[in-house]
Amino acid sequence: MQETSSRPSSAGGATAPAKARFEAVSKRFGTGDDAVQALEPITLDIAQNGFVCLVGPSGCGKSTLLNILAGFETATSGRVLMDGQPVKGPDARRGVVFQQGALFTWMSVEDNVAFGPLAVGRSRAEAMKVAAHFLDMVGLTAFAKRYPYELSGGMQQRVGIARALANDPEILLMDEPFAALDAQTRELLQEEIRRIWQETRKTVLWITHSIEEALFLATDIVVMSARPGRIKARFRPEFATSNDPAVVASAEFVRMKAEIFGLLREEAIAAQRQEDRL
Ligand SMILES: Nc1ncnc2c1ncn2[C@@H]1O[C@H](COP(=O)(O)OP(=O)(O)O)[C@@H](O)[C@H]1O
Ligand SMILES: [Mg+2]
Repeated sequence: MQETSSRPSSAGGATAPAKARFEAVSKRFGTGDDAVQALEPITLDIAQNGFVCLVGPSGCGKSTLLNILAGFETATSGRVLMDGQPVKGPDARRGVVFQQGALFTWMSVEDNVAFGPLAVGRSRAEAMKVAAHFLDMVGLTAFAKRYPYELSGGMQQRVGIARALANDPEILLMDEPFAALDAQTRELLQEEIRRIWQETRKTVLWITHSIEEALFLATDIVVMSARPGRIKARFRPEFATSNDPAVVASAEFVRMKAEIFGLLREEAIAAQRQEDRL
């Protein structure tokens, strides 16, 4: 595996403790001739306060990996730990934001966001206060009384993010949350999520198809191989902590982008060959 940092790591520098850890996690779906080996054993640490982006060709097992940490899927072998304890199923310490369509259509925006706090027994007044706080964070205070169908796709995703944050999760899991959005909305939301991450310092696991998005947001980029998914390379960009909009034009950004593009292209070709054989 290849390791690249946008700056040489300082000798003896303290490394943050792992918030979550995949330990030789593999996944096989089905049995016999129809079985699909989705993941080869993967070992991966997600640092406390880190923003880890998974990139890789379609079908390489990114969602499977995220779903195992979420507790929606179980590993075929290996285990996944959070704060050193095995994950046994979904719980409120891990908040999930889906690609789209996960809001309660029959509830107002504020009720969607207040749902989690109410579900854990907070009073209506408290839950509405939490909802107001996070709607303010995603810039949707004026839309609190509206219904999801009255909102654009980008606004709905912001509600999804506010709703996840309202549960005060320790890790946010986001599976291509901006994939269905147009390019401009996506760029604005990337800036927003970066600001929110800088403010809340939540630990994040994020799946994206966009190399630029990964470079812009991540402290750690994990490039996965074609199925069965393995870790092909890791990058540790340092653009996410910069507030200089010009970083995306810096020589280092462009160099890393080209390198990741090359790696992903090889894997996309391998994935295409697999498809052709089916
Ligand atoms: N529930 C399932 N049953 C059978 N195969 C599955 C299931 N979920 C995913 N797969 C297969 O596992 C592989 C990895 O899927 P996935 O994790 O969704 O990939 P990605 O998110 O990288 O596109 C794919 O070949 C997919 O068809
Ligand atoms: Mg997926």
